Amino acid sequence: MSQKVRKAVFPVGGLGTRFLPATKAMPKEMLPVVDKPLIQYAVEEAREAGIEEFIFVTGRGKTIIEDHFDRSYELESVLNERSKEGLLAELHASVADAGTVAYIRQQEALGLGHAVWCAKRLVGNEPFAVILADDLILADTPCLAQMTAAREKAGGGNMLAVMEVPNAHTSRYGILSPGKEDGNLVEILGLVEKPEPAKAPSNLAVIGRYILEPKVFDILENQSRGAGNEIQLTDALSSLLGHDPFFGMKFDGTRFDCGDKIGFLEANIAFALNREDMRDDVKNFISKFARDF
Ligand code: UTP
Repeated sequence: MSQKVRKAVFPVGGLGTRFLPATKAMPKEMLPVVDKPLIQYAVEEAREAGIEEFIFVTGRGKTIIEDHFDRSYELESVLNERSKEGLLAELHASVADAGTVAYIRQQEALGLGHAVWCAKRLVGNEPFAVILADDLILADTPCLAQMTAAREKAGGGNMLAVMEVPNAHTSRYGILSPGKEDGNLVEILGLVEKPEPAKAPSNLAVIGRYILEPKVFDILENQSRGAGNEIQLTDALSSLLGHDPFFGMKFDGTRFDCGDKIGFLEANIAFALNREDMRDDVKNFISKFARDF
């Protein structure tokens, strides 16, 4: 039987340069989609997959993420006085249970692989999830819950969320060399970070959900810099292939790259359309603007 995934790592130490100037003083993970910051969607997704411990790898200027998951006594007392029970309940939903959250600093943004390595001591010797909050997924069953269920069925191992991307976009992603397929699981034979379309082994891209065995930390420890002069998680995973079981899972749902301006706008529209209290207004607004511009 596979060991349960109890811990999730949220790397939030990136610079978010694609979203400047919005991200000059505010972490991109705090950008709201409709009315919730990206990082809260990520934490809720983790909770729904049974995660019990939440590890944030942060950087300079990210302290408002800590505040977001903490209590806000002033706000609570004002809402109490005004009998705003609904809003109070929403505030409480964003507060983490005592002792379940840890923050560790990545002093320099050296890449995603380095950010994950920073969580090594907090994760210890057990499988763990990694969630990139800027990859937001609209799905009936949250993506990480789909992955933990599929991994349990497969008997453990490393599992990455994958999706097909247009051939012209392979240079934006880690791309895999697919092996045997079983339902929505794809055996991973190779991984390459951001290949040009002509050199890409497929159009199956890894997106920001991973379940990893702790062995990856040993590789990351000695990992040299790769694409973009950053310590790449994909390169470390590539070195592990052939040792442990490695699967890609084609998840059900729509993924939005919220680190990108268009992806972020699309996410806002899709999530608003997905809400009954907003759907009609948004539809009317879109058709009006589409007519007028
Ligand atoms: P991105 O590739 O989106 O980089 O990181 P970025 O710096 O956040 O944004 P751009 O490209 O400059 O606009 C993917 C994920 O890895 C985290 C980011 O926070 C994001 O969730 N990351 C990246 C780190 O935690 N540390 C790093 O050194 C790099």
